Amino acid sequence: MNTRKKGLAQLKFGKRELKKFGAFVSITAMSLTLLAGCNFSSPSIKTAQAKEEKPLLIQGAMQIEVESFLKKLKHVKVEESGDFVFYRGTIDQYPVILAKTGKGMENAAACTAVAIEHYHPKAIINEGTAGGHDPNLRVFDIVLGKKTVNMGSFITEIKGKNEGIHPTQWRPMDLMAADGSEINPDSAKIRYYKGDKDLLAAADAVKDQYKKGKVTEGTIGSSDVWNNEMDRIQWFHDKFGTSAEEMEGFAQAQIADEYHIPFLDIRIISNNLTNGGQYNPNTAVSCQDYVYHVVKKYISENK
Ligand code: 5AD
Repeated sequence: MNTRKKGLAQLKFGKRELKKFGAFVSITAMSLTLLAGCNFSSPSIKTAQAKEEKPLLIQGAMQIEVESFLKKLKHVKVEESGDFVFYRGTIDQYPVILAKTGKGMENAAACTAVAIEHYHPKAIINEGTAGGHDPNLRVFDIVLGKKTVNMGSFITEIKGKNEGIHPTQWRPMDLMAADGSEINPDSAKIRYYKGDKDLLAAADAVKDQYKKGKVTEGTIGSSDVWNNEMDRIQWFHDKFGTSAEEMEGFAQAQIADEYHIPFLDIRIISNNLTNGGQYNPNTAVSCQDYVYHVVKKYISENK
């Protein structure tokens, strides 16, 4: 693959570069004026048009969650910022940025903010593996995040020394409720972010093309914890309505919401303790195959 690596920091322009850029723009403008007189469409003009469109941002946390989608991108250039890796390419001549975020809420949020600032995406899809909270979900089934929820934001009851630890008494705390302390009563509720309706529509429209399991809408819970306690999983399922858990989706949904960018989390069940579903890393590839169909559909309807 013809890839080129460039740090995002290098993309900043100095005065000299701006002068050169000015000269480049004048020459390009002259060339385009000449080309406008000709009756053919140049591939370079097509590329220029593609570059003006706001890209779609696709995110995955781990290598196994981005590598097969990367093979579907054309004209790939690699850019980096810190540990985040961005693959700029196209699908059906439409600009797509594939981001490897790294695992966990902090990486997910930071990478999303960096990508938004640098690439100004039209919409964001996060995709990857998840653990099932619903026994009806089998390994290889896919959950479309109609909602995402934070499973790691709580205020505990006040307990004295030797009064123990009581996670089931912890109350959810909405960190976006108000710019004040936990005493604010508004913060004592569960915050959900809704998946974008156009992205959900595109995902729904291609679900018949997915043959390895079912595709269903649900609530995806995120935190920096991998839960293996059946009672705790059941507690989240009952109290938060979770279908599945992972470690990134809510953090990305929150940042996308703060910047008013449409967002959808798409997760494949790679393990499910509630029905004995053994962890299978190959699910990551199937998820990317499905997300590729979703992306093509979304592009075709939103170009
Ligand atoms: N619990 C938490 N995270 C999970 N992941 C897959 N299954 C689970 C699970 N049962 C994903 C997370 C993270 C990585 C550890 O795998 O999103 O990126």
